Amino acid sequence: MKVLLADMVFALSDAVDLVGVDDDLHGKRVAVMAVECAAEMGYPAEHRARLLHAGMLHDCGVSSTRVHEHLVGEFDWSGSQAHCLRGEALLATVPQLAELAPIVRWHHTHWAAMPAGLDPAVARDANLIFLVDRVDALTAPFYGEPDYLLRKEAGRARIAADAGGRFCPELVDAFMAASRRESFWLYLERRYLWRYLHRAAESGLQAELDLPALRSLALMFAQIVDAKSPFTREHSLGVARLALHLARRAGLDDDTCARIEVAALLHDLGKLRVPDDVLEKPAPLDDAQRASMMRHSFETYQILLWIRGLDEIALWAASHHEKLDGSGYPFHLSGSQLPLPARIIAVADICQALVQTRPYRASMPDAAVMAELQRLQARGLLDGSVLAMLDAESLDVARGDALSPG
Ligand SMILES: [Fe+2]
Ligand SMILES: [Fe+2]
Ligand SMILES: [Fe+2]
Repeated sequence: MKVLLADMVFALSDAVDLVGVDDDLHGKRVAVMAVECAAEMGYPAEHRARLLHAGMLHDCGVSSTRVHEHLVGEFDWSGSQAHCLRGEALLATVPQLAELAPIVRWHHTHWAAMPAGLDPAVARDANLIFLVDRVDALTAPFYGEPDYLLRKEAGRARIAADAGGRFCPELVDAFMAASRRESFWLYLERRYLWRYLHRAAESGLQAELDLPALRSLALMFAQIVDAKSPFTREHSLGVARLALHLARRAGLDDDTCARIEVAALLHDLGKLRVPDDVLEKPAPLDDAQRASMMRHSFETYQILLWIRGLDEIALWAASHHEKLDGSGYPFHLSGSQLPLPARIIAVADICQALVQTRPYRASMPDAAVMAELQRLQARGLLDGSVLAMLDAESLDVARGDALSPG
């Protein structure tokens, strides 16, 4: 199975952008502006592709909708460094993305405050992302408004005034030249943005990922999702551990086991769009909150559909709230429409959630977990053959707090 790195980055950026909830294009706009400024400076294609990816992923250290609001709502938020460090650490875990890590690390540091020993090329790329990121914070409220093009001058003046302070003077010059054009701003509107990015991705990095590389990227995705709330800490990792354990017990071949693990790591990606206060509510959700929660597995599916070659994994991941009798969501699949990998992930998801403390209840002891799973099976919701493979050792696997390397 071969998957393109460009597809993975696109999907990852789509997941990261969901943290903006209703404004779900921030990373993509930053990427387009960075590439436009880079083109203005005559950067070669490979450098532009690197900035495209850095722009799309620059906020991968943000999982919380509250943190996201600070970052787009304030011009220079005092708490901004934490997500730079977290983004750097996440990107460094994936060999194919590691070159972006230092750019993300310094993307909220003022030009005048860049550390003396830092590679000047990294400092410039990081500062370019900072500059266009701040442009987006200034102008995002106006995208799509009829007088949008008239608003750009205030943003340009704000950036120009910061030359030599927050921003590198040559980068400000490049931005001022590029942003004189109406096209610079119009590309940022939803309809044109998709086309621009599609074209850019086609001519960008075409590296292929094998299964181990895919796994390291899925692991990074999972950590972003799990970082959303202390209550879901390690959830995706735990579901992946347990799903792999059950897949092996079921005697599935190595390749299928590995793909089940990847699907389990990715199953809750769509939760990035659920507001923090819904995820952490210490009481039953009201109807509107439940509806926003029930989008998440469909959202997972939509994100994964960006990745060509991953259709089967996308469906397994997105089916984790489906039930054998067709009463689940989002597709109401039933019986034979739910293949064994999907049934395994569904059981692993419930099981891991039951052993974990949630805002509305404590973690459950083994006997209670087994009783609850059997109750669900008796109602025709879960697969009895999967439950038959589950024992005390499996629950320990779900509780463990590390994923075996490799
Ligand atoms: Fe940002
Ligand atoms: Fe879920
Ligand atoms: Fe889950």
